[in-house]
Amino acid sequence: MKKVNIKKTRNQKPKDDQSLDAVLRPFSWNDYIGQKRIKKGLKIILEAANKRNEPFDHLLFYGQPGLGKTTLAHLIAAESKSNLRVVSGPSLSRIGDLAAILSNLEEKDILFIDEAHRVPRPVEELFYSAIDERKIHLTLGKGPSARAISLDLPYFTLICATTRVNLISPPLRSRFGAIFRFDYYEKQDIEAIVERSAKILGFEIASEAVSAIARASRFTPRLANRLLKRSRDFAEMRNLKIIDKEIVSETFKILEIDEMGLESYDRHLLKMIIEKFGGGPVGVNALTAALGEEKGVIEEVYEPYLIKIGFLQRTPIGRMATEETYKWLNIAR
Ligand code: ADE
Repeated sequence: MKKVNIKKTRNQKPKDDQSLDAVLRPFSWNDYIGQKRIKKGLKIILEAANKRNEPFDHLLFYGQPGLGKTTLAHLIAAESKSNLRVVSGPSLSRIGDLAAILSNLEEKDILFIDEAHRVPRPVEELFYSAIDERKIHLTLGKGPSARAISLDLPYFTLICATTRVNLISPPLRSRFGAIFRFDYYEKQDIEAIVERSAKILGFEIASEAVSAIARASRFTPRLANRLLKRSRDFAEMRNLKIIDKEIVSETFKILEIDEMGLESYDRHLLKMIIEKFGGGPVGVNALTAALGEEKGVIEEVYEPYLIKIGFLQRTPIGRMATEETYKWLNIAR
């Protein structure tokens, strides 16, 4: 489990991509761009709890990867002066893993579980009493010598994040005080994030370069920052102090993404619909079989962006490529 000391992360000299991400992370509401609806809701929850001098309610964040769920958990911890304990769902494979974490919590800690849909059900069940009674009930040993014990927990807040909200079981889902869906960002918000990040990294960036990165970012801050960091690598190699449109275009080529932010798997999915299924409509099960990918992953991870940019239509009789898809992929109808 990572215990995050925010000041330390902030002041450390960046070494690798991950510590760069920590440097780029906003730690105050003023620095956090976009997701206005969520920001507003969270501020009210935090301020009200603060007034009552109580820990705030447990929260569930869901949405596409990279839209700032973890970033917001860090920000909430900083704003409420709490320690953030970061745990990834897949690392909680046994009840004992979660019991150890819960029993080590301190007053006012925030426990952040990323990829919460990957916590196995028997482990997840430990959260029920942890939330309802601030206790956990465990059975030690097996057979006739087995012993039941209960442990009291301090006041804490659980924040779960997931890309697959349908896989969070109803009993857990109903225990959160608020559930927030993270949307894609507005293009101008992504532009503001790129400009802010470039400033922190000490690079000048041309406005067409900002716009090109925003367009290819899939309206996702993590991807925008990744494109910026890779463009900066290119600029640095050429001893340039400014990132311009040419540098950004070269970066896209190397990363094999196009100007709309499509990656090879997106093109593969769209081409499959066009070439194998005559442009659709094709049922999701047939598509799933053809792509060799899980249905939920196609529906919740691959498709939303393609639908957002108008390259894919979900109709009652199946998925269809659109006029724009043919044009963008340069395929005759
Ligand atoms: N970096 C990543 N997400 C951000 C956001 N929402 N605002 C500012 N910087 C960010």
